Amino acid sequence: MKVEVAELDSLPRERGVRVTVGDQTIAMFRIGDEVYAIGDRCSHAEASLAEGEVFECAVECPRHGSEFDLTTGEPHSLPATAPVPIYQVSVEDGTVYLILEEDQ
Ligand code: FES
Repeated sequence: MKVEVAELDSLPRERGVRVTVGDQTIAMFRIGDEVYAIGDRCSHAEASLAEGEVFECAVECPRHGSEFDLTTGEPHSLPATAPVPIYQVSVEDGTVYLILEEDQ
């Protein structure tokens, strides 16, 4: 399923944006002209990764500081040990789309 979520120019750089598609809450990050999307909820506890600070291609959880890779969803540091889901993004003519599996 391909869902239009934003215009690329409307996304802030190096900062997260939380979007909701159906019952999924997704954190999107624009790094340069690339856009990454991961599950918004930290795998450690209740925290919104969209509110975290971005370092290169990772986001730091605002609650306990685990850093998640935006390309793989894997945590680089404790206390989180489990990855968060990642989502495919496509940017076409300045419009950003999320590509969601039907069962995601
Ligand atoms: S809630 Fe994210 S590291 Fe604890």
